[in-house]
Amino acid sequence: MKNSVLTFSKKKSEGKKITVLTAYDYTMAKLLNDSGVDAILVGDSLGNVILGYEDTLSVTMDDMVHHCRAVARAADQAMVVVDMPFMSYQVSVEEALRNAGRLMQEGRANAVKLEGGTRVCPQIRAMVEAGIPVMAHLGLTPQSINAFGGYRIQGKTQNQAAKMLSDALAVQEAGAFSLVLECVPMQLANLITKKLDIPTIGIGSGAGCDGQVLVAQDMLGMTPGSSPKFVKRFAPVGEMIKQAASDYIKEVEDGTYPSEEHGFSIDDNILEKLY
Ligand code: KIV
Repeated sequence: MKNSVLTFSKKKSEGKKITVLTAYDYTMAKLLNDSGVDAILVGDSLGNVILGYEDTLSVTMDDMVHHCRAVARAADQAMVVVDMPFMSYQVSVEEALRNAGRLMQEGRANAVKLEGGTRVCPQIRAMVEAGIPVMAHLGLTPQSINAFGGYRIQGKTQNQAAKMLSDALAVQEAGAFSLVLECVPMQLANLITKKLDIPTIGIGSGAGCDGQVLVAQDMLGMTPGSSPKFVKRFAPVGEMIKQAASDYIKEVEDGTYPSEEHGFSIDDNILEKLY
């Protein structure tokens, strides 16, 4: 059975951890799906990871639909959650609903994710009423990077912490089925997790959340430069790719590759007639 919102709520009620990883293309999505991960997030981190932008703000609806379709084709077990890109849901509830519908209809997602608390509750309500499951996202929400003045931990002051808790309760009340907490102090993430009936999915927010999400390329050591503190590199895939590519270059250049076993042959009689 393909995972769904029911998997999320069942795992929370049974005290089992929920696992989520990002993917943006068919090959990676197939590998992750077959690994048994609960859900694949087609994050708008697509902008940084795949498209080489410096942030997520330039990612468009067309980008998300295109990549989500590829992921959805691979995910016969994992639930597919897709990010609503910057400015696809902020302007009006009507526009938000239309765009969420497009991600479900054309992108073949199973749920959408959007950033924000109380201010996006009307959008969440409208989507849930239309049968679109919504994952909310609080804390360091990358689409607000200019308002935050950089990539910083959120929720450290009394006001920020209280606002985050009330936002978390608000998105739950509006009908969100789960909530991503990004770069939130562990103690605050634990408190929010205890206060909510819906599962929290942490990234850089400690082990007390009901589940975890990471960008696959980060945990595989494929992203250039230094990674954030919360990232654990589970395999040096980036290094392995570079090594494999330089082995390939060497073998092509010195004639070791391709060898006999990699070629196809033709009957000698046929060939002779061509001389
Ligand atoms: O875009 C993304 O990949 C995300 C996760 C990091 C939570 O929103």
